[in-house]
Amino acid sequence: ATTRYEAETAPAVCDGAIESNHAGYSGSGFCNSTNVVGASSRFTINAASAGTATLAIRYAHGGTDTRSANILVNGSTVQSASAFAATGGWTAWSTKTVTIPVNAGSNAVQLSASTAAGLPNIDYVEVTDSGEPTGEPT
Ligand code: GCU
Ligand code: CA
Repeated sequence: ATTRYEAETAPAVCDGAIESNHAGYSGSGFCNSTNVVGASSRFTINAASAGTATLAIRYAHGGTDTRSANILVNGSTVQSASAFAATGGWTAWSTKTVTIPVNAGSNAVQLSASTAAGLPNIDYVEVTDSGEPTGEPT
């Protein structure tokens, strides 16, 4: 199953401001993180069973620098300084996809800026898990 988690919707947390001044976002806005190392956009996501899941991150990056972020799951870094390419404008939204390990049930996913430019603007993450809970009939 695929589930969307908006950056502006609790329990998600944005180190910065929820804004809506650049069109094309989903929901009611996006996370404009503070431009500083360690600024993060955090999500609580659910997985049906332990294993791996696909994390699709929708973002816009209208600058010319390459921003990057550490991706943490349940406090462990699973991707270091993963690059978010410039998208050509703050209203030009792209999706970056990574594979992450997950526990069954709730998981904490954190995107943490690894350069002083902060994160790109983060719209949402979508999590695609393997489907049925372990032990459930299919
Ligand atoms: C601009 C833009 C913001 C963005 C910021 C940045 O101020 O309007 O949406 O977050 O640049 O460089 O991070
Ligand atoms: Ca910003």
